[in-house]
Amino acid sequence: MPRRKFLFGLAVLCLLLASCSGSQKGERKTSIRIGVSLYRADDTFINNLRSIFEEKAKEYERRNGIKVILDIQDAKGSQNMQNSQVERFISLGCDVLCINPVDRMDASAIIDKAMTAGVPVVFFNRQPVEEDMNRWDQLYYIGVDAKETAILQGKMVVDLYKEQPAAVDLNGDGVVGYVLLEGETSHQDSLIRTEWSIRTLKNGGVPIEKITGGIANWERSQGSALMEQWLSAYPGKIELVVSNNDDMALGAIDALERTKTDGVNVIGIDGTTSGLEALENGKLLGTVSANKELYATVILEMAVSCALGEPPPEEYPLEDGTYYWTPQEILIRENTEAEEMPAQSR
Ligand code: GAL
Repeated sequence: MPRRKFLFGLAVLCLLLASCSGSQKGERKTSIRIGVSLYRADDTFINNLRSIFEEKAKEYERRNGIKVILDIQDAKGSQNMQNSQVERFISLGCDVLCINPVDRMDASAIIDKAMTAGVPVVFFNRQPVEEDMNRWDQLYYIGVDAKETAILQGKMVVDLYKEQPAAVDLNGDGVVGYVLLEGETSHQDSLIRTEWSIRTLKNGGVPIEKITGGIANWERSQGSALMEQWLSAYPGKIELVVSNNDDMALGAIDALERTKTDGVNVIGIDGTTSGLEALENGKLLGTVSANKELYATVILEMAVSCALGEPPPEEYPLEDGTYYWTPQEILIRENTEAEEMPAQSR
């Protein structure tokens, strides 16, 4: 290559690098670019989190005078698509990646690319396996402790049963017939939530008996279809619906409304906007809600400090220097007086 052409190329490269980082050598950056990939942008909980995250980024800009450029992409449930998005983020000079992995067991391709380019990754909501997380000290995970969530979900019914058994054992036969709506099989939350929620109910003395259960992949429409089948297969038997999330719980409520079945208790997890609405108008008995303000704040603050090359913010303590667990709480319908189950649906 002629020398002049080579020098010109070098100068262009330097200019590009300087403009990507938004800083001169040794100075604090004045702008940062964050590449965000969501496993599915149409997932209600993820969508709620995304809106708060975007607000927090604007707030951060206003407070700190550092421009935060967000490039948010939908991986539409495809790991291949997400891997390509990661490549594109890196080629665009993103300072950090926030990844909600499609396949949490297969984050290695993303990690390879990020490590090669030296771009830190903040994973969230879908936890990569430990072996992957241990590969580099610039990998973080922000999430919610699934076992804690499930124990809280079970506890809300245990407490209600202790106070007002008739509000849970609706037909008063000493047995609480329940159905279970489960999330994606490959998601860490589904298995752990199911196991610990049911264990908590049993250990807490609620005389539960499983009628049936099924996988509805976090989706309202799938939850609704399953519940409709169950209502016709087991008429008058279902007293409690235990759902791994709010959206599937709302699907069950849709089916209860369609079939004009009253009184069945439905419990969810997430505290999504639509879940909270159902709680307020008395359709959902209760939910376990992670502090989403904090959840989104920690993802953003972690990402910003990585992008600025600073240590993780001290106010959000990390377990093993890698994991942040968002606090959560039980939200239960105010009026939980025993509702009579109409005779025809018993
Ligand atoms: C769970 C959440 C579900 C769904 C899923 C996506 O934590 O409860 O509603 O959003 O994450 O990974």
